[in-house]
Amino acid sequence: MTLDQKPRFSITTPLYYVNALPHIGSAYTTIAADAIARYYRLQGHDVLLITGTDEHGQKIERTAKQLGRSPQDHCDQIAAGFIDLWQRLNIQYDRFSRTTSDRHHQIVNEFFQRVWDRGDIYPGQQQGWYCVDCEEFKDEKELLPEHYCPIHTHRQAEWRDEENYFFRLSAYQDTLLDFYAHNPDFIQPAIRRNEVLSFVSQGLRDFSISRRHVDWGFPVPIAPDQTLYVWFDALLGYITALLDAETTPSLDHALTPWWPINLHLIGKDILRFHAVYWPAMLMSAELPLPQQVFGHGFLTKEGQKMGKSLGNTLDPYELVNRYGADAVRYYFLKEIEFGRDGDFSETRFINILNADLANDLGNLLNRTLKMAFKYCDGTVPPISEPEQSQPPFLANFIATIGSEVAQAYQSLNFSHACHLALTLVKAGNKFVDEQAPWTLYKQQEITQVHRVLYGVLEAVRLAAYLLAPIVPDLSTQVYIQLGLEIDFQAQPQKQTPKQLQAPLNITYINQSQWGVLQPGQPLGMPQPVFQKLEPLSVTTA
Ligand code: MSP
Repeated sequence: MTLDQKPRFSITTPLYYVNALPHIGSAYTTIAADAIARYYRLQGHDVLLITGTDEHGQKIERTAKQLGRSPQDHCDQIAAGFIDLWQRLNIQYDRFSRTTSDRHHQIVNEFFQRVWDRGDIYPGQQQGWYCVDCEEFKDEKELLPEHYCPIHTHRQAEWRDEENYFFRLSAYQDTLLDFYAHNPDFIQPAIRRNEVLSFVSQGLRDFSISRRHVDWGFPVPIAPDQTLYVWFDALLGYITALLDAETTPSLDHALTPWWPINLHLIGKDILRFHAVYWPAMLMSAELPLPQQVFGHGFLTKEGQKMGKSLGNTLDPYELVNRYGADAVRYYFLKEIEFGRDGDFSETRFINILNADLANDLGNLLNRTLKMAFKYCDGTVPPISEPEQSQPPFLANFIATIGSEVAQAYQSLNFSHACHLALTLVKAGNKFVDEQAPWTLYKQQEITQVHRVLYGVLEAVRLAAYLLAPIVPDLSTQVYIQLGLEIDFQAQPQKQTPKQLQAPLNITYINQSQWGVLQPGQPLGMPQPVFQKLEPLSVTTA
């Protein structure tokens, strides 16, 4: 089998603004995207995970000025901070797209030309209230008293009145509605889809795609005294990211073989840009549309909206340095139903990790391994026909758990995937307690001891495999202690054309079945796979 035959899956995070180092919201989207990418890689798909930074616009221009840096120096520093955090969080991205790159400039110019040739760009007068933090015009009725932004509540929107170029969004209203009707899964979850349908049905207004008083942006190709609106340029960053490093930048080159993107993962605040503006821009340029846009919810801290003005932001660097990547990844994906708003509570964070990973999973592995050392010379218990050896307590769901977890990942229901894997672990703990292998051993029921220990070790292995997209480090530790070679941390192959013919690494699939552990195989020394967390208070930034 060659990689050419493998199914493909491409996924993006938003391209994050570089006005500041990443906050927990950016980390949240990126962790989720990484878990999905890892899931599809384990399924044998050829995966492309795109992330990156959105570096133009007035917000960045002003921040750099306040800090006494040139905009480009500022962007370079902050982009490095994103890359650093993604490493700490174990994010295996394939492309990091920066919107100030020359290659991106060429893609933007070519795209602009297509839309211009289509007759969808025209000059007009832009009047309205602009929130620089959102980089978006707001209707007066959306704003709080005295024109404060409802999202950035410390920021007042600014009045603008200038001649700009506009994109003819209104021309796409019917085509968009028709598209949503024929592609009911395009916007997820359903609540977000309904919001978009209602917004579009009320009528679309053209939006301005150029700025007269912002220098930090690409010049408008037909009017170099203006710069392009940051969102017009940023969305195209998803296309630039598809270019191989050695390829000449052009839309044609970028769009094979990964376009259209399977999934744009974003927060609900930027849904309109992705589910309305972006498809309309692509329609205008006569390009195929992405398959799905998923808008996740917002995070709060200890029940309160997070914000600099409230002084209660949650610093992802602090969190990962203190607790480790697996802990952070597990908490946010297990504890918060993806798509809904969710809360970070430190007490809950510590309790959940200790209960699920240190106690239920870690202890089960540890005590069973110790018994395997005592009763089976440190090898996988020698039972016959391991594939047929499901203990009765698992028989009811072992046949379906693999497909149920797969279904959970595919529908981005991480919480349910974790819940299912933990059900397996809890059942394993109960089984050991009931069967009491130590008593069976004393009674010389050696065959039974072997069957019980095999069943439990295999259940732990399976749970670790099912959780690997979420806690890759922990899963690797479990596998090592079980004497298996798989490394869930191994970097994916880079997508160069040569490697597209490399053989499929079969060790990465078919592990969701029962009976992978081979009787007689040596086991690793028992060690805690997840250190219990001490209740410490997380520093706020
Ligand atoms: N630059 C644009 C995206 C352009 S994509 C072509 C942008 N950047 S951002 O850095 O402001 O947004 C980052 C992401 O963080 C968004 O998906 C947003 O929804 C998310 N979050 C920001 N605050 C958040 C929370 N409090 N909770 C969860 N996610 C939040 O928008």
